[in-house]
Amino acid sequence: MQPSLLFLFKANILETLNNSKYKLLSNMILKVNPLKPESKLIKIAADAIKSGELVAFPTETVYGLGADALNGEACNKIFTAKGRPQDNPLIVHVDSMKMAESVGEIPKEYRQILNEIWPSPITFIIKKKAKLPKSVTAGLETVAVRMPAHPIALALIKEANTPIAAPSANLSGKPSPTEAKTIIEELGKKAAVIIDGGPTFFGLESTVIDLDSFTIVRPGPFTPEEIAKKFGKKPKIYFAPKNIEKPISPGLKYRHYAPDKPLFLFSGKRENLTKISNAIERDFCVIGSNELCNSIYNKHALKISLGALGNPYEIAKNLFSALRSIDKYAVDFGICESFPDEGIGLAIMNRLGKACGGNIFSEMTQLKKLIKIGHI
Ligand code: TXA
Ligand code: MG
Repeated sequence: MQPSLLFLFKANILETLNNSKYKLLSNMILKVNPLKPESKLIKIAADAIKSGELVAFPTETVYGLGADALNGEACNKIFTAKGRPQDNPLIVHVDSMKMAESVGEIPKEYRQILNEIWPSPITFIIKKKAKLPKSVTAGLETVAVRMPAHPIALALIKEANTPIAAPSANLSGKPSPTEAKTIIEELGKKAAVIIDGGPTFFGLESTVIDLDSFTIVRPGPFTPEEIAKKFGKKPKIYFAPKNIEKPISPGLKYRHYAPDKPLFLFSGKRENLTKISNAIERDFCVIGSNELCNSIYNKHALKISLGALGNPYEIAKNLFSALRSIDKYAVDFGICESFPDEGIGLAIMNRLGKACGGNIFSEMTQLKKLIKIGHI
């Protein structure tokens, strides 16, 4: 946007906000009611999308950094803002079946099912329609499409009247943001507008499924069990081998969700993790269930509880902010508990596996080797 237009745009926001009861946090941050989005505020954000700017907005999974999916130049800004590799395609967000079918080809046999299950935290990879800019699909013949189950996201797409391409609103490689304040800290002014709609509902990104091969390429809140029930057949689940050059989904080859400090994932019985955690003599973070945290009394341990073992959705919701906090505290490293990999647990373990970058241990001796220091 040119400076004069930017000024007008800001003035427009200020005027709108002066006339309303809504809180203005800074000139480009809009606090919007997540259940009943205020149309005046949505219009401001939609205008920014229409003029080729980036808008960060909440979805039911995580916050997205959105641009007009039909505007190649606007989509390029997403890659620059995130430092995202050009070969990693974007998810296109739609508000209707009609809009979905304007960007991709939904196989006839699945049309009815998609119509029933959307909006929900599931993304379908389908054959793309020609009009999409190259940057959105990273040159692939397919496009990832999703209809988010969040009133703000749906209202924004509807008002902008265009599909919105949006990856998660984090710097490439970092955990996805589940609150607007994380975006303000990490991306700052790279987004023309940041919509603050409070914490997201699930806290983990959508399930991504390739409809052609019926394979889950990224597990998420829409579980394999639910997919099997809705489609009447079991999806395959893709487990990426290490060091793949050409994976089924480009995002799989990049390290993700990683804090700057080392993170070690424990695989074994919880009681053993309690023993190990109580024996460590350096300052560290331990991320785990309430049950684990309640069993640790070591003064060197900074405990971050994710939630009760019986509530995996709560654990999922708190996971990314916990991973980010490792870097905020004065600790040397983090260790994390493993969870059963069924239901949403599959998605939790997928993110933890990537966040620890293969650093997995089940005994103190292994942890020492991984840390490569004499004493811990
Ligand atoms: O919940 C979500 O999905 C969030 C919110 C904002 O909607 N978005 C999100 O986008 O997580 P992103 O870009 O962080 O992750 C999209 C994933 C990437 O791993 C990418 O490689 C994959 O989807 N993807 C996108 N288009 C694809 C395609 N045509 N074929 C295979 N994988 C694709
Ligand atoms: Mg992402």
